[in-house]
Amino acid sequence: MMKPIPTDVITAYIEEHTDPLPPLLKDLVRETRLQTGRLNWSIGRAEGKLLQMIVAISNARQVVEVGTFTGFSALLMAEALPTDGRLITCESEASFARIAQSYFDRSPHGNKIRLELGPAIESLARIPDGGTDFVFIDADKSGYEDYYEEALRILKAGGLVVADNVFWRGKVFITPLKNENARAIAAFNDKVMRDPRVEKVMLAVRDGCYLIRKR
Ligand SMILES: C[S@@+](CC[C@H](N)C(=O)[O-])C[C@H]1O[C@@H](n2cnc3c(N)ncnc32)[C@H](O)[C@@H]1O
Repeated sequence: MMKPIPTDVITAYIEEHTDPLPPLLKDLVRETRLQTGRLNWSIGRAEGKLLQMIVAISNARQVVEVGTFTGFSALLMAEALPTDGRLITCESEASFARIAQSYFDRSPHGNKIRLELGPAIESLARIPDGGTDFVFIDADKSGYEDYYEEALRILKAGGLVVADNVFWRGKVFITPLKNENARAIAAFNDKVMRDPRVEKVMLAVRDGCYLIRKR
């Protein structure tokens, strides 16, 4: 029987075998660490590259992101959009939005990105039905079920959702669920699993990603 391989060994190996970040994103990582001290909020290189590839291979033209933070995931996804593609990203915290916008302004792909400052549920409500190809959900965990319903409303048939942090730092595996966010994520995961409107596969990437396709 093979001994379990420690997660940090697997993570390091994955990073060694995944494309490097462009220089602007390396600057953003440095600035995010200095200004916010919350670098672990960004999805990181491997998950970022995965999202970028999903956007590219699905030929997405309109992407919506719930949870911009300092713009790391938005910039990677925008790079995979065609020149007339559009990414709408939602953030409620002005100080994070300011950093993100300053990097969108420096990127050759920044003109594809529109940042909506305010509660994501209000920004999502302004997006018309059925015109979006891909939605990335990565904000407050208590909002996931509402963001998911909005995602299904704005997505085209065949459109995709990725929901991040569906392991909630491993806390969804420990029952009874003690943490409020773990309870919200577990309820979200169960709701998606039972939902006949979608196909789904859960991926053990970083803190867990749920890949969901609207039928
Ligand atoms: C995990 S971070 C997003 C990380 C980002 N996707 C990345 O990879 O760089 C979550 C973000 O959601 C934002 N957020 C939390 N609640 C929100 C809400 N109700 N509406 C909009 N944004 C919210 C937080 O301020 C935070 O910046």
